[in-house]
Amino acid sequence: MNDALRYALQHMPKAELHIHIEGSLEPELIFALAQRNNFTLPYTSVQQLRAAYAFIDLQSFLDIYYAGASVLQTEQDFFDMTIAYLQRAQADHVRHTEIFFDPQTHTARGVPMASVINGIHRACLAAQPNISASLILCFLRHLSEQDAFETLKQALPYREKFIGIGLDSAELGNPPEKFARVFTRCKDLGFHVVAHAGEEGPPEYIVSALDALHAERVDHGVRCLEDPELTQRLVNNKIPLTVCPLSNLKLRVVENLNDHNILQLLDAGIVATINSDDPAYFGGYINDNFIAVADALSMSLQQAKQLARNSFIAAFLHDETRQQYLNEVDEFFNSL
Ligand code: ADE
Ligand code: ZN
Repeated sequence: MNDALRYALQHMPKAELHIHIEGSLEPELIFALAQRNNFTLPYTSVQQLRAAYAFIDLQSFLDIYYAGASVLQTEQDFFDMTIAYLQRAQADHVRHTEIFFDPQTHTARGVPMASVINGIHRACLAAQPNISASLILCFLRHLSEQDAFETLKQALPYREKFIGIGLDSAELGNPPEKFARVFTRCKDLGFHVVAHAGEEGPPEYIVSALDALHAERVDHGVRCLEDPELTQRLVNNKIPLTVCPLSNLKLRVVENLNDHNILQLLDAGIVATINSDDPAYFGGYINDNFIAVADALSMSLQQAKQLARNSFIAAFLHDETRQQYLNEVDEFFNSL
């Protein structure tokens, strides 16, 4: 990759739209929080924990990700985790981020919903105006729709603190339509709705994320190119994909980054974006993802600019704010 492209990728203003805040917990912070909360981890050192990050698929990752999240107990823990991510994102010139959180992972352990939402939200306020952040509450798809309804009920007293609803965790065997009724309720309540689909699951899951959940964005979605009709639908309806290349590599959705279809998605006219997913587990934050893709594929400056623009086009922002960010991207590239 040439120096101009590297500089552009690292410094261009960008939005991050697919980041699980629990996936930003670095091993050092996991150990610090465990110590603070007198929680015994099944690992004796940071190095030993990091060595366990050898995933063969999504489930093998989720097992370790949920174990890591179990150190989070107090509102301050959620605040500290979120501030650490926001500072790291800011260093990558992220101007706006939409953060996923998984309340069921915590409420099932007896952590109050208030601690989860207030801790994460307070960190988002503290980071302004350097970086703006909105929250998206995700339902865990390996649990029941009834559990999702119960979680929604517990979260509604804090409804001003999150803007959207997502769907994550183990995809295969848990198709979007399992959550059709709770998503209809969320949409009626005025929340934005997104869903993970087409990561490990087949293109049919992307179709049902659109048909049954009315998803406004699809998280991952990289298997859409297997279905030309679906590809055209994503283009025509301007449904963005939040793609996470290093995640796809580490979870073996792709064998090799040279095989990644991110630039094909872009060239097909899809509003594709690049994101980090779970940066502490997959070897990199958002800029590491941009650099890894540019190292593996031949990305042009024009494609880099399109990716930066897409991140704001796909964001849940007021149009005036969106336009300001798009102008910033254009000015950045004009100044190169
Ligand atoms: N939860 C955290 N990261 C995830 C991913 N990549 N897919 C599904 N659920 C997740
Ligand atoms: Zn994800």
